[in-house]
Amino acid sequence: MADYWIAPSILSADFARLGEEVENVLSAGADVVHFDVMDNHYVPNLTIGPMVCKALRNHGIKAPIDVHLMVSPVDRLIGDFAEAGASIITFHPDASTHVDRSLQMIRDAGCKAGLVLNPAVGPEVLKYVMDKLDMVLLMSVNPGFGGQKFIPNTLDKVREVRALIDASGRDIRLEVDGGISAKNIAEIAEAGADTFVAGSAIFNADDYTEVIDKMRAELAS
Ligand code: DX5
Ligand code: ZN
Repeated sequence: MADYWIAPSILSADFARLGEEVENVLSAGADVVHFDVMDNHYVPNLTIGPMVCKALRNHGIKAPIDVHLMVSPVDRLIGDFAEAGASIITFHPDASTHVDRSLQMIRDAGCKAGLVLNPAVGPEVLKYVMDKLDMVLLMSVNPGFGGQKFIPNTLDKVREVRALIDASGRDIRLEVDGGISAKNIAEIAEAGADTFVAGSAIFNADDYTEVIDKMRAELAS
């Protein structure tokens, strides 16, 4: 069985108790913390930045922090997030003028690097930067908000990108973000994803362990 990761998106957490919320999802079995950064420019919403990432590290969070940048421009936040303890930094290629340079900056800062493709963006952009990628994140909703509905066409793109990753022979994680729950996680995995972001499905539940266990059971089926 693939090495599946469940990545709760803290966008749907209770921000007044963020440290505790992150501890709770990790002890409920989450693998990584998905950290959504929105700038009210690239996306019509405003969330959290490097200070909050640093605060989670200072609080004692040791798990990988998967920083999803929905900001433009991208480059000036890379160093700040690396210093704040980010493990993985992904950004949208349409948000950066020089995609190859931004990927290299992330790697030079000591983090894993990835690109994020919106629902209407094709995988062509991946071809010439495959050697600088540790992750590809496919959006299965239009970015900006939690709690949206999974866009079914994403499954074709998951299959397409899975084939590109396999052909590259590189160790690149394939993450999907938006509208994921225990109901559809199995078919997304079957299409070739190995990393699953879930915000509302986890944080809106009363029992985080129960939802994550249910997701893992679906992945094992
Ligand atoms: C959307 C964010 C997602 C979002 C997922 O722009 O990138 O990470 O929080 O939330 P759900 O799982 O509720 O769709
Ligand atoms: Zn995200």
